[in-house]
Amino acid sequence: MDAKALQALLETALSAVDTATDLASLESVRVAYLGKKGQLTAHLKSLGGLDPDARRALGASINQVKTQLVEALNTKEQAFRAAALAEALEHDRVDVTLPGRSAPVGGQHPVSRTLDRIIDLFTRLGFQTATGPEIETDYYNFEALNFPAHHPARAMHDTFYLPDGRLLRTHTSPVQIRVLENQAPPVRIIAPGRVFRADSDQTHTPQFHQVEGLVVDRGITFADLKGLLSEFVNAFFEQDLEIRLRPSYFPFTEPSAEVDVRWHDQAGNPSGWLEVLGCGMVHPNVLKHCQVDPEIYSGYAFGLGVERFAMLRYQVNDLRLFYDNDLRFLAQFR
Ligand code: DAH
Repeated sequence: MDAKALQALLETALSAVDTATDLASLESVRVAYLGKKGQLTAHLKSLGGLDPDARRALGASINQVKTQLVEALNTKEQAFRAAALAEALEHDRVDVTLPGRSAPVGGQHPVSRTLDRIIDLFTRLGFQTATGPEIETDYYNFEALNFPAHHPARAMHDTFYLPDGRLLRTHTSPVQIRVLENQAPPVRIIAPGRVFRADSDQTHTPQFHQVEGLVVDRGITFADLKGLLSEFVNAFFEQDLEIRLRPSYFPFTEPSAEVDVRWHDQAGNPSGWLEVLGCGMVHPNVLKHCQVDPEIYSGYAFGLGVERFAMLRYQVNDLRLFYDNDLRFLAQFR
C-alpha cells in the first residue's frame, strides 16, 4: 500500500463520516475502518510482512490516518449527541413557573374525631376501653339489663331483628353485661361503638354511635357519677358548663337521670338546657345477673350519643349530614 492509496482510503472514510446521518450509521463507519476486521486494521496487520524501514514509514502514515479518522468520528459523534440533547431539551421542556399539582389531603370524619376525643378524655380519667358484638342476643341487649319480656321500654328501641331472633344492638349497654360477666370489680370501662335503630329523621339515623360507661366498686355513689360527668363535659367542650341531672327512667339503672348542660348562645349568654346523656346507678338486678353481689358492690353507668356531642361541638344542625358523605361538608373538618 502506498501513500496515495492510503490518502484515498482516508478520503473515502472521511466522506463516509460526513454522510453518516445518525449515531448508528456513524458506528458502522467506525467498524468498517477501525473494527477488528476493518480496512485500516487490516493494513496495520499487514505491516508485519515488511522490512523494518518500510514498516516504520508505512506504520507512521497509517497511524496518522487513523488519528485523523478517529478525530473526525469523535467530532461527528459529539455533534450528534449535542443535537439529540438540544432536541430533548426543547421537547421535554419543564415550565418550572407553572403552579404545582398538589395531592388532596383527606381528613378524619367528624364523628370519628369526636369518638377519639371522647375515648381520649375517659382514658385520662382512668377508664379502659371494652367492646362487644354489634349483633347481639335478646339476653344481652334487654333481658340481662333488666328489660323483662314484654317490658314497655323495649318498644322504645325500634329494634332491627334478624330472622334467627338475634338483633342489631340498640345501645352499647349490653357491653356492661359482657364486661361484668368476665371481670370482677373494680371495673372502670367505657364501651364505644355502633348501634342501630329503625328510625330516621333530622336527629335520628338508623346507625349511630354511643359510648357507654360503667364503674363498679365498693362504695360508689351518685356523687361520684355527677363529679365524673361534670369533669367530662367541661373537658369535652373546653368550658365550664353548668350541668343538671333530671330524674328519668332506664330499666338497668335506679335511680336514673338524664344530664342536661346549660348551653350558651352566640353572644355567650346562657340559653336553654340541652340533654346530652343518660345515666344512673347500676340496678341491683343487673349486678345479680352477672353474679356481682349488690350488698357489697355498687356502680354507676352512663351512655352518650357520639353524634350528639359532635353536633354540639361543631354546630351541625342535621345529623344526616354526617352520613351523606358530601365532601363539601366533610372538607370543613380537615
Ligand atoms: N342505653 C341507653 C340508651 O341507649 C343510654 C343509657 C342510659 C346508658 C343510662 C346507660 C345509662 O348506661 O345508665 O338510651
